[in-house]
Order: sequence, then C-alpha cells, then structure tokens
Amino acid sequence: MRKKLAAGNWKMNGLKSNLGEVSALTEAHPSPACDVLLCPPATLIGAMAEAAGGKLAVGGQDCHMNESGAHTGDISAQMIADAGGSYVIVGHSERRADHHESDLIVRAKAEAAIGAGLIAVICVGETEAQRDGEQTLDVIGEQLAGSVPDGATAANCVIAYEPVWAIGTGRTPTLEQIAEVHDFMRNTLVARFADAGNGMRLLYGGSVKPSNAEEIFATSNVDGALVGGASLKASDFGAIIAAL
Ligand code: G3H
Repeated sequence: MRKKLAAGNWKMNGLKSNLGEVSALTEAHPSPACDVLLCPPATLIGAMAEAAGGKLAVGGQDCHMNESGAHTGDISAQMIADAGGSYVIVGHSERRADHHESDLIVRAKAEAAIGAGLIAVICVGETEAQRDGEQTLDVIGEQLAGSVPDGATAANCVIAYEPVWAIGTGRTPTLEQIAEVHDFMRNTLVARFADAGNGMRLLYGGSVKPSNAEEIFATSNVDGALVGGASLKASDFGAIIAAL
C-alpha cells in the first residue's frame, strides 16, 4: 500500500515572515492521513524544519550532483540533509528549461540525493507542443529511462508527472489523460524495477487546487500531488491535504 504524499513547492517565494503558514498548517492538520512535504527556497530550509518540528517533512527544490566543491551558488544534497531536509525535488521543468538540465544531469542529482539519505522527487512532463504532436508517452518514457537512477527504490524515489503546459496556468489535463500517463509510468517502472516500481509513489503536478484535488487523487495510479501556487497558503494546501 503506497502512502499518499502531498508535496508543496514554494518555488522562489517565501521569506521568514511566511513561516507562520507552517504552524497554521500543522495546527489545522495535526494528524494528516498522508505524508506532507514542503519545499521552500534554500534560504528557509533550516528555519522551516525548525518551525515544523517534525510535524511535516521539509525538502529542497534542487541540489548539485557533487557533495562539495567550487560551485558558486549551488547547494549539495548533504547540505539539505544537514539543514533538516529529508526530500529534494530534481528535474523540475523550470530547472530543465532555465538551467538546461538534461536527463543525465537529473539522474546524477537524484543519485546524489539518494546518497545523502534524501528522498528524490524526480519530475517529468511534456510540453504543449509535444502533447499536440502526440509524443507525450514517448517523452515521459525517455525522461523516466534517463532521469531515474538504477538504485531507485520505493523508499528513496518519488516520481512527479507535471505537464509543462499545466504548471501555473490554471489548465489541467483531463482525468483520462492523467490516468493514461500515470498508468504508463507505473507499467514502465514495474518493467524496470519489479516490485519497487509498484511501490514508488507517483504524484501529479500542474494547477492542483482545492477544487480539483479530490478528483485528481481518485485517478488511477495517482498517489498524491506536487503543488506550486496552492501550497503557499496553509488554507489552500490544507484543503488539498484533506482531499488525499
Ligand atoms: O512544482 C510544482 C508545479 O510546478 C506545479 O505548480 O501548482 O503552481 O501549477 P502549480
């Protein structure tokens, strides 16, 4: 039985003054039925972990593939763990686009995350042109093959399907389209990792909000969500947690 996961990605949003959202969330949902994760900007990982007091998990939004060294501005997976994080997102489409991250780089980052004892949330997703060109499953298959490391297990990896065109746009795929991709990902992961592939949690991400969370969570092979905008406010994210 896969435990559901509600993951929030604050992206480049959040100051110390926003940490009140964490206590508001844990007070409103003291014993959620699902795992809850918030990934703030790197500057807030330590403070958020402290504010959360173990009542929800905290993670990074990216990590370098190396443990340390001359990489100005980057942080390592080990540093995220040291600050109190237990997860890290890798291969988000914004990183793939803005920082030219290839599947090979994403895989190396996921390996670094696992090596540091973090759970890697590996993101995949097609662009609108790729969906229109009926290439969605080919693209997802290629990204899974390239980005998910051989050492992936149900305990150290989560996969997030985020259609690029659904991120921050208010547009979501149909439930049939989500089910098609999630079923495809499940079959692909089982073919490669056997039982471990069956245990890996598959999140949907892209314009998840309180009003559509319940139906998305009821969709085949959806084990939770990776939420951007709606994770910034405890009231919205709390409603999504309650729907899981
Ligand atoms: O990581 C989160 C996703 O990119 C989804 O963002 O919920 O604002 O569409 P969104």
